[in-house]
Order: sequence, then structure tokens, then C-alpha cells
Amino acid sequence: SGWRAARNIAKCEYGQGAAGTVELTILFASQTGNTESVAALLADKAKASGMTVKVFDMADYKLRQLKNERYLAILTSTHGEGSPPDGAMDFYEFLHSRKAPELKGLQYGVLSLGDSSYEYFCQTGKDFDARLRELGATAIVSRVDCDVDYDNAAEKWMQCLISTLSKSSRAAAAPFSLPVLTGTRHDRRTPFLAPLLENQLLSGRGSNKEVRHIELSLGSAGLRYQPGDALGVYPQNDPELVAQLIQHCAFDPEQIVELNGQSCSVREALMSHREITMLTRSLLKKWAELAQSDALMKLIADKTASAEWLRGRDVLDLVRAFPLPGYDAAIFLDLLRKLSPRLYSISSSQAVVGEEVHITVAAVRYQAHGRERHGVASVWLADRLTSDAVVPVYIESNKNFKLPDDDDAPIIMIGPGTGVAPFRSFIQEREARGARGRNWLFFGDQHFRTDFLYQTEWLAWRKSGLLTSLDLAFSRDQAEKHYVQHRIRAKSREVWAWLQEGAYLYVCGDADNLAPDVNQALLDVISQHGHKSFDEAREFLRDLSRDKRYQRDVY
Ligand code: 2AM
Repeated sequence: SGWRAARNIAKCEYGQGAAGTVELTILFASQTGNTESVAALLADKAKASGMTVKVFDMADYKLRQLKNERYLAILTSTHGEGSPPDGAMDFYEFLHSRKAPELKGLQYGVLSLGDSSYEYFCQTGKDFDARLRELGATAIVSRVDCDVDYDNAAEKWMQCLISTLSKSSRAAAAPFSLPVLTGTRHDRRTPFLAPLLENQLLSGRGSNKEVRHIELSLGSAGLRYQPGDALGVYPQNDPELVAQLIQHCAFDPEQIVELNGQSCSVREALMSHREITMLTRSLLKKWAELAQSDALMKLIADKTASAEWLRGRDVLDLVRAFPLPGYDAAIFLDLLRKLSPRLYSISSSQAVVGEEVHITVAAVRYQAHGRERHGVASVWLADRLTSDAVVPVYIESNKNFKLPDDDDAPIIMIGPGTGVAPFRSFIQEREARGARGRNWLFFGDQHFRTDFLYQTEWLAWRKSGLLTSLDLAFSRDQAEKHYVQHRIRAKSREVWAWLQEGAYLYVCGDADNLAPDVNQALLDVISQHGHKSFDEAREFLRDLSRDKRYQRDVY
């Protein structure tokens, strides 16, 4: 739960009923009747998802009503040489006239039906789409232009629209008491549905890893972020895993359940609202009580054994290992934790990419207990986003990982693997600002050939001089391991000199091994070149932290 669509915060507006249901208006313009029947189908689906729906033939629609709409679906065919069907003429002209209202609060989707053998294929739909955007409205699904065999394309478009809208409605039904805001605002509880722009494989063929560069559009939602901030992403669970769980538990996937005062199907709940890949001790305990299982009770009593059992196992493993016949889906869902958003360090600067946000995501896949396991968000982002997908996101600011205010201050960035993400943002920002401070990057990964993330960008910045120094540690290109901390030690004299000149230190990446190892390397540099005892070196590093000159984003 906890999300609703963009631009929908202001209360008591048309478009959102008192109970928080989405009020969808469907306008169709049909020449032959096809469009009308698709409109009727859409209406049925929307109603089935709990929305309040109004359907109008465009010819009968009160033009004055348009400015009050919040959610609008337009379905249109195209007449002859690209002109609107007769019944759409008034609406079309009104929309394109100077009388057309500003439509800043409107979220819409356009489906156009046509025949690709005509030169002006689907022109009317294209025109509506372009004009609505011009008037300030936001497309919540990409327009789809259907050819004569429109069924599948129309079906996909409808599904996408409904699922996006039902996310809004579920969230809207939550008992928020937000103030009436004039603009838009998005946060953890009210994410923005960001359309996917790019989803590229960054790691090379033959890499042990699958790292992706993902670009999302922030539209005109007005979201701002600073280099160092993170993007919160609400993922969906693996449909395969959800299906197995439903099957194993013999649930009816379409059964409607109440979840935090909102209703949705069991499948929806498991897909979007509950953690099913993480097992906790407390769930184990609750399960033991329900199952009255002596075996499980015994396991829990032994802390080491139960911790060992939990490792790498998920909810499906639990229900398989300790079956509990005939329990209710609602009770089961109550036991599970809410699906939480995942945070990714942002790898772009708004000074360069404007209304976009970029993240760098390593797909987490591994084998455990005879099954392939997937990281929820990373694999969802990697595998299951279609080109017209929207990703519910919000900005999680991080005031403890910020560029120096002083553009002349030197910075040293240490970020192996996807830990390099915020530093791409840092350098983009410094370049845009014309910051003159020197920049030094330590990057490491397994192999130079396949894992040098954003290689061309770093090399270009190195060449232009923006990046003063670039130190690389590829751990598996030779017999012995090379890590970033080895490079720091090898360059200890220069590192010390930079610190003397006021450099800021940034570390991003793994918290368990990398962060303490780098910390130790820095202590060694300080004690060696600063001629300090170990305690003095620690004190020196602590002072740097206090002065915000040693900042870490480790996880
Ligand atoms: P490895 O997996 O070959 O051991 C990014 O994941 C890079 O960080 C990889 O090259 C990885 O090396 C390396 N790495 C692993 N443990 C590390 C540590 N404790 N400190 C620094 N880098 C580490």
C-alpha cells in the first residue's frame, strides 16, 4: 500500500471519490463501433477493479466538464485522411482551440485504432495525445496505436491503464490526512509513477554480474534531487513465485481481502503488498503457533539452528516445510510484512538530465536450497519492465552524502561495483556547475573487460581533465586480488597530500567488508604520512567525519 498516482494529492477534487476510489472517465469516438466496444470492455474492467466509471460518446460529452476530470481515457479511431471521426469533431476542435483549459491535474491515456495501410495512421489519437500533453496533462500509460487486428494491443493497453490506476486508488483509499497541496508532492507514501525511458545492460558479455543502467522520467511532477540522494522504488514480486505460493497454499487468487483498510485480490496482495522473499524469526514464531508444529517449535528454541535454517529461505520454503492445511488467505497475509521500497543511489545529476533520474542496478540472482532466488526489486527492474512500464518512485534525500558547497574543494571518491553510482552524479553535477575542485575516483570490480561501469564516461572525463585521477582495481584479472584499498595504499602519499589540501572523502558500496577495509587503509595512510599513532589517526578521521569531509553511503 502507500502509493497513489501523481498529481492527486489535493483532496476533495473531482476524480477521487470520498472513499478514495478512482473516478475514471472514458471518452470514445467511433466510426465503425469497434472503438465503442473496446470502451465498454475497458469500463467493465475498471469497474471490476473498484473504480467509478463514466463512459461517454465524445459527441455527447459536455466540454465544460473536461477541466474537472482527473483520470481520462480517450479511445478514438481515425477518419479517412487523418481527421477525427464525425462524432469527435466538436471535442477535437474545442481541445485545439484557445478555449481549451489548462489540464495540469489531468492524468490520461490514449488508445487509437486505425489501419496502417493509410498514410495518416492513427492520426487523431496522436493529435489528442500531443495536445493533452501541451495543455499540461500527464500520460499515465503510453499511447498505443492499434492496427486492424487491435485486440491484443488494446488489451495490453487496458491492462496497463487499469493496473496503474488501481495502484492510485488503493493508495488513495488509505487513511491519509495530508494537507491540501496546491502543487504536487511525492514521498514514500505517495510515489510518483515514473515512466521507464531506458533499461540498458551495462556489464559486458561474459560478466559474472548483470548490472543495468535505468533511466526514468520524472515528467512534470516537479521532483527534485541532489547528487548523493537515493531513489526509492516500489517493486513487485516475482509472478512465478506468487503463483507457486498461491498454488501451494490452495488460495483463490481472485479472493478479495482487506489490507490496511483497502481491498484487493490475494494475487495483488502477494504481488505488490507483501514481502514473500524475506523470512524473519518473528514470522517463524507466528507460524509455529498457527501450525502447532512441534518440529518448528523445536527449531525456534535453538537460536543457531533457526538462524541457519532462515538463511536463504523464503516464504514458499516455509509453507512447504511446515504445511498448515486449510488456513485463510487473509490470516496468512496478515502474518507477512509489508513490501517495502528499495533504495538505489541516484547516478545522475538534474543539472544535466533535467526531469530524468538514473539508477545503476545489479540484478541479484543466486541459487539456494535447490531453487534460483531473485532480489525482488533488482530482478523486477531487470526482467519484467516492458517499454511502457511505470515505476513507483520517490526521492529519499541523504544529507550525509553531499558534495562540498565549496566548488574548489578537492574530492576523493571510492566506489567499487555499483557503489560508483553516486559519483557519476557528483561528476555530472560538478561539470555542470563548472566546479574547479579536483576529482579523484577509485573504482574496482571483477574484470576490466566486462565490469568497468560507465567506462566511456569516466575515460572522457579523465581526458577532459575534469577527473584529475582515476585509479582502478580489477580483482579477478590476475592471480591475486586487487581491491580499491590496495590502490589507496599504493597512492598513499598523494592521498595524504589531497587531505592536507582539504579534500573530501566519499565511500559508497558494501558495508560489511569494503567500508571497514577502506577505513583501515585510510587510517594507515594517515598514520604513515601524518606520523600519527593509531589512536591519533582514528581521531584525525573522526574529525574529518565531524567536518563532513569523510562521508559514507554504505549498505
Ligand atoms: P571480488 O568479488 O573479486 O572479491 C565490486 O564488487 C568489487 O569489489 C569486486 O572486484 C570485488 O572483488 C571487490 N571486493 C570484494 N570484497 C572487497 C573488499 N573487502 N574491499 C574492497 N573490494 C572488495
